[in-house]
Amino acid sequence: MSYKNLSVRSVVNAAVHTLAATSVAGVVFVSGCSSPASTPRVKSAVQVSTGQPAQRIPALKDLYAKDYLLGTAFDFRTPQEFSPAELEIIKTQFNTITPENSMKPGSLQPAEGQWNWAVADRLVEFCESNKMTLIGHTLVWHAQTGAWMFEGENGQPVKREVAIERLRKHIHTVVGRYKGKIKGWDVVNEAIADSRNGSTENLRNSPWLRVIGPDYLTLAFKFAREADPNVELYYNDYNIEGGDKHKSSLLLLKRLIAEGAPITGVGIQGHWSLTHKPFEELDQAIQNYKALGLKVMITELDVTIQGQGGGQLDQRPATRPAAGGPNGTTQPTTRRARRPMGPSGPATPAQLQEQAEVYKRFFEIFQKHKDVIERVTFWGFKDSRSWRQGQHPLLFNDNDQAKPALFSIAEVKKSEGR
Ligand code: GLA
Repeated sequence: MSYKNLSVRSVVNAAVHTLAATSVAGVVFVSGCSSPASTPRVKSAVQVSTGQPAQRIPALKDLYAKDYLLGTAFDFRTPQEFSPAELEIIKTQFNTITPENSMKPGSLQPAEGQWNWAVADRLVEFCESNKMTLIGHTLVWHAQTGAWMFEGENGQPVKREVAIERLRKHIHTVVGRYKGKIKGWDVVNEAIADSRNGSTENLRNSPWLRVIGPDYLTLAFKFAREADPNVELYYNDYNIEGGDKHKSSLLLLKRLIAEGAPITGVGIQGHWSLTHKPFEELDQAIQNYKALGLKVMITELDVTIQGQGGGQLDQRPATRPAAGGPNGTTQPTTRRARRPMGPSGPATPAQLQEQAEVYKRFFEIFQKHKDVIERVTFWGFKDSRSWRQGQHPLLFNDNDQAKPALFSIAEVKKSEGR
């Protein structure tokens, strides 16, 4: 599936439903006590479901504290975005957050010189007050970017020099504002095309490529480094763990390194499913990236149970037009798959178990490579708030109950000690 066939560009906003309830019928969360950073302890919440035995929910961030950061993605679109039960999940399970939409180019600068900081700033404050690590996502992307970036006078394509200056200014302003508050930036997102051609970099035919040329990536990395000498800088993409796209990613990353792009690591998004679970390819890909001297991040992990997985766009027209961009900005529209891309309905116990097994296998691979993996971030935390809503991709269900997948991931770590 290719982006360039899309006629409609729209924006994905993350959240679908905000669960209003603090206590969903019969479910009570009891928070564990916090432990000093020097002596990581496994915090736990006790979830009591009516008619079911109480279950102790392992805190993944504590279990994996010595191996890598454990994260999720969301935004405070409003200050009261989350229920107490949801906040409890966030704080108990994760120690790093990625903004789902609020730091994308179209969110921060929908028109030239018009900056929207409020939603992004809220997340910065949340991470600071909860001692969580914040990741920046993303500085350069073909989607969710204001069309003005690429427009010159009289509707002509912008000149290369002007586009470079806009790129520089955007990156300097954003990275500069959050200097010291963000651990690492996804500098460029999804620059490689989906079509098969592993013998070249196969760069996506994006406006950035058209107006600047292939060096837009190196320039973006250099601008980010100028703005913050210490922040980590990543290349982020989906499906780069296997096949021709993996080969293209190696060519691209080698070129960036050769051109002096200050790149710290590569983000494998990890939008997988029960039918697309590239275990062996992932294992090899991590080794290949490590051999280039790069750190590896799993940046947008989800495993869908039903329908199509993958990181690609939904080509079908949206059921309803997007009402503006994220955070109320107006911007061009590229509709990511925001609704079920296949049959949807409640997940069966067998499917939930199969999902748990798939997550387990992925975490076994992450553990094998924990020397080079710095972070594993899920793209959300509960199914009803996911961009893959209806496909049951995450660790908590719509009622804030931990799914079998969470317990199987915990089991990977616990079994190491036996
Ligand atoms: C991509 C982007 C994310 C998000 C997801 C789906 O993977 O990197 O920011 O938009 O698509 O919502």
